[in-house]
Order: sequence, then C-alpha cells, then structure tokens
Amino acid sequence: MKVSAIVYTSNTGFTAQYATLLAHQAGLPLHRLEECDLSRDTQVLFLGWLCAGKIQGLKQAMGRFQVAGICAVGMGPEADTTKLARDNRCERLPLFYLLGGYAPARIKGRYKMMMAMMKAILSRKTDRASQKAVEAITRGADWVDAAQLAPVLDWLGE
Ligand SMILES: Cc1cc2nc3c(=O)[nH]c(=O)nc-3n(C[C@H](O)[C@H](O)[C@H](O)COP(=O)(O)O)c2cc1C
Repeated sequence: MKVSAIVYTSNTGFTAQYATLLAHQAGLPLHRLEECDLSRDTQVLFLGWLCAGKIQGLKQAMGRFQVAGICAVGMGPEADTTKLARDNRCERLPLFYLLGGYAPARIKGRYKMMMAMMKAILSRKTDRASQKAVEAITRGADWVDAAQLAPVLDWLGE
C-alpha cells in the first residue's frame, strides 16, 4: 500500500509507541495529528487509541488526509474489528487492532471518571476477563509488543 506518512494521536503514550515503532520499521515519517500540516492528498496510516469504542482522532484524520489504513489501540485482549469498523464508519478501510496498555497515573479529568465507572461495573462481575480488566485498571499494564505490528508491516509492504 502506498502510504507516505504515519499520523497518530495518543493520550497516555501507548499509541505513540506503536506509531514510533512502525515509522522506524517502515521508514516512514511520523506526525502527531495535533501538530501535523500534511497536505490533503497525503496517503496516511492512522493510529488512534480507543475510548468507549471510538477511535480517537479518526474523524479529523479522515477529513484532513487520505486515510489508507487504521490501527486502533486498546486494552481489551482482543477486538471485533468488524464491529469496530462499523461503529467508527470506516468499513472500507483496512483496520488493525493493537493491544496497548493502561497507565492510571496518566489518566486525567473526564477520562478518569469514565474509567472509575467502568471499574465499578466490572468489579461486580465474577468472570476471569472482568477480573483481569479490573486488575489492569487498578495497577496499570503495558502490553506493547513489536510483534503485534507484523500484519500492519505486511500490509504496508504490499
Ligand atoms: C476513558 C477511556 C475509555 C477507554 N475505552 C476503551 C475501549 O472502548 N476499548 C478498549 O479496548 N480500550 C479502551 N480504553 C483503553 C485505552 O484505549 C488504552 O489504555 C490505550 O492503550 C490508550 O492508548 P494511549 O496511551 O495512546 O492513549 C479506554 C481508556 C480510557 C481512559
């Protein structure tokens, strides 16, 4: 795929780590969405973090550049990418899910309140997945792993 730049947005740094790894491994320039002045016709791979099922920054990126592919970074062990694409109105684009991490000390304001609510809901559940999620929300976790980028690099190389 002829992508000429990587554009990302990140709240606590995990998406930034993946974007940096990809830029190095694919030899592409890296831009933060908030500071990026690429021209409208630039083909980009966009990376955004997941917040309540929404890929942050995607709407702006689609309005500003030619988004050719998307990576969504979240904390769920896996994601239903068909549903994710439908919910984010990007069904026609390749969408990759990457497991990021959770850094409680870096979460502020309304995001902190949202996660406190999420933790309260999950704490009432007894299944293993919910318990693991509560543990990650409480203590934090870092699952960033360059190996997760293999399918994205394959796609970039096509
Ligand atoms: C308010 C809030 C909502 C979140 N919603 C989701 C979600 O819907 N699905 C998911 O997998 N992860 C969700 N997460 C977890 C983040 O996507 C995850 O921590 C990600 O690695 C953050 O990336 P960043 O460090 O680039 O900001 C949420 C985190 C916060 C703070």
